[in-house]
Amino acid sequence: MKRILFSLLSLLLITSLKAQQYDTIWLSSLDISKATIGWGRPGVDVSCMGNPIILNGITYKRGFGTHAASMLCVKLSEGSARFHAVVGINDEEKATTGSAVFKLYSNTEILWQSGILRSGGPSEAVDISMAKIDTLFICTETTEDGANYDHTDWADAYFLVAGTKPVVIYRPTEAAVILTPEAPLTPRINGPKKYGARPGNDFLFRIAATGERPMKFSAKGLPAGLSLNTTSGIITGKIKKAGSYQVTLSATNKKGSDSRRLTIVCGDTIALTPPLGWNSWNCFATAIDQEKVKAAADAMVNSGLADHGWSYINIDDCWMVQAESTDSILGGEVRDAQGNMNTNKKFPDIKGLADYVHSLGLKIGIYSGPGPKTCAGFTACYQFEERDAGSFAAWGFDYLKYDWCDYERIAKDHSLPELKKPYVIMNEALKKTNRDIVYSLCQYGMGDVWEWGNEVGGNCWRTTGDITDNWSSMESIGFGQAGHEKYAGPGNWNDPDMLVVGKVGWGPQLHPTRLTPNEQYTHISLWALLAAPLLIGCDMTQLDPFTYSLLTNDEVLDINQDPLGKQASRITQIGNMEIWAKNLEDGSLAIGLFNRGLFTSPVTATWKDLGISGSYIVRDLWSQKDEGKFTGKYSATIPGHGVKLVRIYKSQ
Ligand code: GAL
Repeated sequence: MKRILFSLLSLLLITSLKAQQYDTIWLSSLDISKATIGWGRPGVDVSCMGNPIILNGITYKRGFGTHAASMLCVKLSEGSARFHAVVGINDEEKATTGSAVFKLYSNTEILWQSGILRSGGPSEAVDISMAKIDTLFICTETTEDGANYDHTDWADAYFLVAGTKPVVIYRPTEAAVILTPEAPLTPRINGPKKYGARPGNDFLFRIAATGERPMKFSAKGLPAGLSLNTTSGIITGKIKKAGSYQVTLSATNKKGSDSRRLTIVCGDTIALTPPLGWNSWNCFATAIDQEKVKAAADAMVNSGLADHGWSYINIDDCWMVQAESTDSILGGEVRDAQGNMNTNKKFPDIKGLADYVHSLGLKIGIYSGPGPKTCAGFTACYQFEERDAGSFAAWGFDYLKYDWCDYERIAKDHSLPELKKPYVIMNEALKKTNRDIVYSLCQYGMGDVWEWGNEVGGNCWRTTGDITDNWSSMESIGFGQAGHEKYAGPGNWNDPDMLVVGKVGWGPQLHPTRLTPNEQYTHISLWALLAAPLLIGCDMTQLDPFTYSLLTNDEVLDINQDPLGKQASRITQIGNMEIWAKNLEDGSLAIGLFNRGLFTSPVTATWKDLGISGSYIVRDLWSQKDEGKFTGKYSATIPGHGVKLVRIYKSQ
């Protein structure tokens, strides 16, 4: 009844407005290509996939097809009277679990919002005055279940205008404000405080320290079998006996010195803190070659990233031979006469490459999969697992990303035994190599891998599909990690995929990340809180100062690397505002106050929700400044898609 009344009233209003000689300006007649949308293309009278706009069985001739999260900014003229639309999830997703909220904002306030609209569910109509509105933001937002299937349509969308037509403008850009203070010239030791290695295996650890060079290093209490190069700070050797060793690292230069405790735990478990490194996929994808890997290793050292603890250089797909390729560089014999896997001609000396990376004190990673082929169609390990693990070890690799992909045609089904099987086989093969190889499972979270990744020997496991450099991808993956925290701990990490800051592009063409500066702060803060492996996805030879500042904040990296190894939990979620908290080894707490909405808003973390009481000193981690003593709660004003990351210490 209410609905009919509303429609009748709108009809009356619109008819009377039309009688006053307003023009109907279809939203889709404006330059909607300037919209940012979560996936696909902004659709002119079609969906984001190019299909007709159909909501709840009704086909609309006109409309704007989007995918959550999306934003279109429209500058209005004084004569703009009303905006009208019918909104919902396109019937092309009728059978799926898409859901989204549609919102209209002015520069200062929310004007209207729909309920949560779902695939196959009812649509909603909006008809709203545009009087006194300067800029209208036409947005859709994802809901708890992330961005999947959120094909959000603004059907039958038009303005009634007397005078100048509205104009679509680009989303206002945010200034990329650098918050991380520069590292001092005096030595400061960074990186993990706890490090795992297996007895009798090759050991490699580069002391990460910022400060003016030259620098002299020393290490007291090193276990027998290890030695330190006092100029480079690189520790090598083999630990003879299992045990826990308390080592005091020191670094001295002309300006001063610093000391720090490192616990070396020699036993079965490696990756006691989440791996910090780089992976080639998000920047170069198939365009990777040996020179680019070498350049990445050089850049990790020369830029100073390695001085903050970054240490793995991981080659992703495309280093092997592609059986069917007629390309003389990629094609050829996939294995030699003994069955050892060959590299393609873009990697003429993979052992030499690994040696080079090690000479810098860095570690090197490789990629393969349990199927006959990798995702990009290159040779993988199926039925050669032991031989290939032997090659990886002989070449000197320290990390293996093992990607399900083409095993899909080998597996009988997605039952747990079938999902586990190939990972168990490779784990057995890796164990025989007597090399510390971080074992990274990549099968996109199938069968709730977090529940059994540890059981099959994994040190980390991808919990999701591939990330891309936009808000809806990053936010739905990152905030979608809630609930996985109980499976994370030293040696076992949930992996929400690699970082998308800096110049990315999945090669050969690169572009600056499409995440805004605030979204990038959210990305790094959230991944740090999640105790996620941090794998830089950009071209490190082209680091800009802002990206560098995001990757070199030692207090933020300390949250990720905390030896307790806890993953943050979501404490509260009120609309778009979320509080996440991570327990740290020294009894303090890291707290992320997130605003997933589009506009600035206050966010409050209460002690009650955090399960604490009394007074706490709050320290802002990005700017590395104390904010004072707080009792009962802490509030901050957070920009849209932004974050405040703090650490709170009990005050006496
Ligand atoms: C995907 C994987 C990506 C990347 C790619 C290589 O399956 O999720 O991270 O490794 O394969 O082909």
